[in-house]
Formats: sequence, C-alpha cells, structure tokens
Amino acid sequence: MNQLDTKSQAWSALFSEPMSDLVKRYTSSVFFDKRLWQADIAGSLAHAEMLAAQKIISKDDLASIERGMAQIKVDIESGAFEWKLDLEDVHLNIEARLTTLVGDAGKRLHTGRSRNDQVATDVRLWLRSEIDLIVDLLAALQATLVLIAEKNTDTILPGFTHLQVAQPVSFGHHMLAYVEMFARDAERMQDVRKRVNRLPLGSAALAGTSYPLDRERVAKTLGMVDERGAPQVCQNSLDAVSDRDFAIEFAAAASLVMIHTSRLSEELIIWMSQNFGFIQIGDAFTTGSSIMPQKKNPDVPELARGKTGRVVGHLMGLITLMKGQPLAYNKDNQEDKEPLFDTVDTIKETLRIFSEMMASVTIKPEAMERAALKGYATATDLADYMTKKGLPFRDAHETVAKAVKYAIAQGVDLSALSLETLKTFNAHIEADVFDCLSLRGSLEARSTLGGTAPAQVRMQIARHKERLKI
Ligand code: ARG
Repeated sequence: MNQLDTKSQAWSALFSEPMSDLVKRYTSSVFFDKRLWQADIAGSLAHAEMLAAQKIISKDDLASIERGMAQIKVDIESGAFEWKLDLEDVHLNIEARLTTLVGDAGKRLHTGRSRNDQVATDVRLWLRSEIDLIVDLLAALQATLVLIAEKNTDTILPGFTHLQVAQPVSFGHHMLAYVEMFARDAERMQDVRKRVNRLPLGSAALAGTSYPLDRERVAKTLGMVDERGAPQVCQNSLDAVSDRDFAIEFAAAASLVMIHTSRLSEELIIWMSQNFGFIQIGDAFTTGSSIMPQKKNPDVPELARGKTGRVVGHLMGLITLMKGQPLAYNKDNQEDKEPLFDTVDTIKETLRIFSEMMASVTIKPEAMERAALKGYATATDLADYMTKKGLPFRDAHETVAKAVKYAIAQGVDLSALSLETLKTFNAHIEADVFDCLSLRGSLEARSTLGGTAPAQVRMQIARHKERLKI
C-alpha cells in the first residue's frame, strides 16, 4: 500500500497518533473540492510536462503520469473513482490514486510543488472557465432583453421616481436600462478574469523552490497568458499562495449581477400585481397557491431577489475570511471554496432562468398607458412648452403646479382641459399645446442621446444588436 493510502496519516511518519475522526471530518474538503478535479489534473499535467522538459523527472515518468491521469479522468467521469475522506482533499485523492496506478512516477509529480500553490492554481483555472460561461449567459440575457425592447420601442408606461408617476417612458427604453447593467456586468467579469488568469504554481509552499522550474512554460500550457500571449505568472511566492483577492473580486462582480436581477425582479413583481397589471409572466414560470385558487405567484423573481442576499453574504464571507490572515497560506483559505461554488451556481442558474422567463412575459400596453395617463406624467412637458414660449422655467413650473391642482380637483388629465381653461393659467398657451400634452408627444420630445424617444431607443437597439452580434 502506498504511503498516501494508509489510514493513519497522509503526509508523514512524524505523527505518532492517528488523526481523530472528528478532526478528519472537520478538516476534510474532498466532498466539496472534488469539483475541482479537472483543473487539478490539468495543473498536474502542465507541471509534469515542465518537470520533464527541465529534466527534473524523466520522459518515462511523464508518460506514466499522463497514462495514470487519463485513467483517473475516465474513472471520475464514470463515477468509478472512490473519493476518500481520509485523503482530505481533491489533490491528495488524485495523487494517491495516481501513485497506486503508476508507482514511483506518481510520487515524483509533487516535486517542486505544494498543495498551497496547487490549490490556488486549481481554483483559478476552475473559476476562469466558469467566468467564460457566465459571460455567455450574460450575453444571452442581454439579447433576450434587446429583442423585447425592439418589439416595444413605442409601448408607453409611466416612468417612476420614488415610485410616483414621473414621466412617460418607452418600455423598450426601460428594458435597455437592464441591458446596460448586464453589459457592465459582463465587462466586469472580463476584467476580473485578467486577475484570475495568473499562475501561482511554482511558488511551492510559500518561498519558491530550489528546482529549476520554468513557470512561464506552465503558464503558457495552461493558457494563463494576456491578450498578446505573454505568460501571466504571480510574481511573489508569498502572495501567490495566499492571495484570494480574485475570489473576492469575482464575488463582488457576481453580487452586482444578482443585484441587477433583483432590481428587475422587484419591478416584475410590482408590474404583475393586480394594482398595476402591466405584465403577465408565463405560466411555466409562476406557481399557484395551495389555498387560494385564483393566485399566480411570481416565485422565480422572488427567489432571485432572495438569492441575492445569499450571494452578497458569500462576498461578506470571503472578505471576512481574508481579514487578519498573516502571510502566507493558512488553512482558513480552504473556506473560500463553498462560497465561491455556491456563488457560481446561483448566478448561472439565475441568469439562465431569467433569459427564459423574460421571453415568456406578456406585456399589457393598455394598462401601462392607462397608468401613465393617471399621474399627470406630461406636466413637465407643459412647463417645457411655456418655457419655450419665453416664461422662465421656475415660473412655468409653478404655473403648471396650479394647472395640475385644478385638473386634480376636476378629476381629469391635463390634456382634457380646454384651451380656454389652459389659457387662464398662461395667456401664451396656444392650440399646439395639445401635441405636448399627449403621452406620445412627451415621449418623442425626449430625444437627447440616451433619452426615451423611440428614435433614440431604436438607435440604441441597433448598437446593442451589433455589439451582441444578434
Ligand atoms: N484543501 C486545501 C485548501 O483547500 C489545500 C491546501 C492544503 N494545504 C495545506 N498546507 N494544508 O486550501
């Protein structure tokens, strides 16, 4: 039996007492970090290839390691691989199995390496591929929202500030606000990726190693290169084994993704309530009530809103994990994995379900328009109209306030007041005032860059379609 496979102690003959079962369970991470197995094997193969190129191990040893790892891959994929709690983590499990399969060559793999630089490398490799998937999911969600926007450039709903009717906006414009958020999220993920994609391996336990390693070669093999192909290697061994900034940055970027889906969720929930009735979410994405037969509940957005707390919690967990750790590696760092894994799972599932759910939403333009008409949403337009006729804006604002007060007392919209009545508030008002008092007139007037005028919205849609290649 090889040394790593014994029940007593995985690392050395120094220990005279076996580890207690309680401690084994407390310190073991294999049942969650086995998820890193592909990255672990990739990192080991790149390390072994370099060891052979540097003549630190023989070509035969490399061939044996490659053969053993190929077998391990098959076994893990088929479920035949036996993960052992006694072997603490993914790294020791795979290494022990390799040694069982190929003998001494397996024991030589750990030359010039420590689990400290190994785990930091594995987490980075794993996170890099997850970031790539997340960027794709963000693009898919943006595309869904752009297509909804395209169908609704001219759909009018009340825009709110303080959740009070403010000014009419285009529903397409409203959707594009979220496209901007998710576009920034994708940008942030790409930026975090640059700092994730750096190689700690070769730092060994903390101080570097006496073997003539070629770290840049390993970086290139693992694709840890910048956009010009230059290898990206962590330049300080103490920092390399202990740095988890990249995980914190990722959790922060992920928190923003969740915060954006949570804001959208809140709007969907409000819009779907009977008092608004602006939308209906497809039946496949709503749930019924076990007691109230009439109910359709927006469980998916509610859960997304709830899960935001969980991801933000992981960010707090990771930040707190790092606070107060002396250089270099400490076992505390093993606690980075579960929050990271759960963050990745949560945002991937949320983004996926949001793309599908948003495509299922039915829009009710009449209800939106009715609501926009209720709240004197064109009052600013009347003030702007009078300002353009020469009245200072502050005076126009005051005059319109009086007109709104009068209209409220009559129970009618501004556009329902007669020209004569309007003239009593300001003599310069002419018949053309009614163009700007309509919701459509108000919408079309807001044609500044980034404004809600349908012409602007169409321009933005074209930009997004080109950017997203849809
Ligand atoms: N399972 C460990 C982790 O996740 C691997 C590194 C262990 N290193 C050590 N010196 N005990 O951090």
